[in-house]
Amino acid sequence: MTNSPIDAGAGPIGLYERMGERATQPFAIQLLDQLMPLDGLAVIDVASGTGGLAVAAAERDAWVTATDISPDMVARSAERLRSFKNARAGVMDFRSLGTAGASYDIAISHFGILAFPTWRLGLDELLRVTRRQGRVGLTMWTQEDDCSPAHLMRRVFAQLHPDRELWPAGMFPTFSQDELRESLLEAGCSTANIHVAQADWSPYSSPDVVSECDPMFRGFPGYAALSPDEGENLREALQQAFNGYADAQGIIRLPTRAFMIVAASG
Ligand SMILES: C[S@@+](CC[C@H](N)C(=O)[O-])C[C@H]1O[C@@H](n2cnc3c(N)ncnc32)[C@H](O)[C@@H]1O
Repeated sequence: MTNSPIDAGAGPIGLYERMGERATQPFAIQLLDQLMPLDGLAVIDVASGTGGLAVAAAERDAWVTATDISPDMVARSAERLRSFKNARAGVMDFRSLGTAGASYDIAISHFGILAFPTWRLGLDELLRVTRRQGRVGLTMWTQEDDCSPAHLMRRVFAQLHPDRELWPAGMFPTFSQDELRESLLEAGCSTANIHVAQADWSPYSSPDVVSECDPMFRGFPGYAALSPDEGENLREALQQAFNGYADAQGIIRLPTRAFMIVAASG
């Protein structure tokens, strides 16, 4: 079955919105559901990408500020938020948010700060800008094999090239639920509720899954460095691995998994 991708532009921002946000948005909805009701609450979304979560929060009547270090990401968020009168977007670095302390009811970083080795600085900043007894919401891939399309690619790559890395070890921090909880409490949260959430991911077209993912996967150094023959072998093995998740109608449904965290700011 084929769904048409939304037209979000042909460049890297459009690519992120079509492919990256497609994987993250189901978790945005789950996180917002946990934080409801949002009516009239001031919410900052840190490392907001193309703004999928911010739009969904604005639709739920939150007063949203979408922030990202990339001016192009922010421009796309601003465009998508234009019809909401209580929403805005701005360029900010999560390690030093240019905003007053205690100015938000909820600070969110959805597949944002936890993707970076500097995430503890990001957490300190999220807590600084959240009012007392406010909330912090975070998500991140569990980093296990097959927890996302990229992690399925990492498993297949490791099987074919055990002596190489798809992406450098340590590029993404890894944690257990207990380690995450400990870090949140240590940073000053009074409670931290963490669970592993699941959402089925399907490509737009299951027979074309590998070519759809290819532009995203080319960003991985190990993949970009393959010879043409190695690339061809990998793509064949990847198609087979994806097919292992197809249902009776041939639609690929990868059960993606992410940590979902809601903490009280203390
Ligand atoms: C995986 S994307 C997540 C985007 C979006 N929240 C989502 O879930 O689809 C990570 C985002 O972090 C942003 N980013 C990277 N470094 C950053 C920094 N120092 N401060 C703020 N944003 C940053 C990137 O520009 C990118 O948009």
